[in-house]
Amino acid sequence: MDTKILIIGACGQIGTELTKTLRATYGVENVIASDIRKLNNDVVNDGIFEVVNALDYNQIEHLIEQYNITDVYLMAALLSATAEKNPAFAWDLNMNSLFHVLNLAKAGKIQKIFWPSSIAVFGPTTPRHNTPQYTIMEPTTVYGISKQCGERWCEYYYAQYGVDVRSIRYPGLISWSTEAGGGTTDYAVDIYHKAITEGTFTSFLGKNSELPMMYMDDAIKATIEIMQAPKENIKIRSSYNLAAMSFTPKQIGEEIKKHYPNFTLDYEPDFRQKIADSWPASIDDTSAREDWGWKNDYDLENMTVEMFKNLKKHIYN
Ligand code: SER
Repeated sequence: MDTKILIIGACGQIGTELTKTLRATYGVENVIASDIRKLNNDVVNDGIFEVVNALDYNQIEHLIEQYNITDVYLMAALLSATAEKNPAFAWDLNMNSLFHVLNLAKAGKIQKIFWPSSIAVFGPTTPRHNTPQYTIMEPTTVYGISKQCGERWCEYYYAQYGVDVRSIRYPGLISWSTEAGGGTTDYAVDIYHKAITEGTFTSFLGKNSELPMMYMDDAIKATIEIMQAPKENIKIRSSYNLAAMSFTPKQIGEEIKKHYPNFTLDYEPDFRQKIADSWPASIDDTSAREDWGWKNDYDLENMTVEMFKNLKKHIYN
C-alpha cells in the first residue's frame, strides 16, 4: 500500500518543518497536514490542509477514511512550561490524542504511528550525565508524566495488539522558521532572534543550566528515518533516547559572540529553572545509533552558523 500521511499538529514548531519535508519526500498529494488552527503559512497554503481537533476521535477517523491514511504523525501537545499552567488540559490533550491514534491503529485503520516523547520523561532521581536508555524515570512535570505514561501505553499497544508505533525522546529543539511553543528549552531559540534584533538577551535559565539540544533539521531527519526503518530494527517500542549536543546558556552565548562580538547576555531564572534542573544534562543514544543508524549532522558551532544564515535570509531580511 502507498504511504499516505496525516500530520496532527502540523502548525507547531516541529509540525511546520516536518510537513515541509514529508511533502518533499512523499509528494504533496500524499501528505495531509492538520491543526486546530488554520494559519496563513506554508503548511496551510502549500498543500492539503484540514482543521482537526486532536481530541475528536470521530474527526480523525473521518479524515483517515477520506484520505486512505496509512501513517499518522501525532505532533499536537502542550509542552512543559505551558502544561504546568494548565495541568488538567495538558493531561487531557497529551494522553487522549495518543489513545485516539493508538486505538485507530488497533482497529486496523492505520498502519504506522509516530509519537514524540521527550527528555522530560526523566526526573531529578535520573543519572544526569549521559542518561542511559533504561534508567530511573520519576518525572516531576505534568508534561513529563504525560510523556512517560504515553511511552508505557505505546509499548503496551505494540506488545498486546501489534500496533506499529515508533517514538523518539526529543531533546530541546532549535529552529529558525517557527517560534518554539511553551517549552523549557525555548530560550535557546529566542536567543538567536534577540542577538539579531536587540544585541542582548535575558535568559530565563541560569548560566550553567546544561540541557540536551538538537537542531531541527536533525530532529526531522531522525523522525523520518525511524519511520522508514524496517519494522524489525525498531527494537524499543517505548521511545528512543536521541542526542546531538548539550550546552548551557553561557556556552550558547559564547558561540553567538563569535558572530556578534558585542552581544550581551544576562540571567533571570524563573519557574522554568526548576523544570530544567530536573532534566538530564546529556543523553546516551547508543540504541538509536545501533538499531536504526541515527547520526546527527549538527553541533553547537554549525547550528549557530545555520541559524544566523537562515534568520537573516528569511526572517530579518
Ligand atoms: N523542549 C521541550 C520542552 O521544553 C522538551 O520536550 O518542553
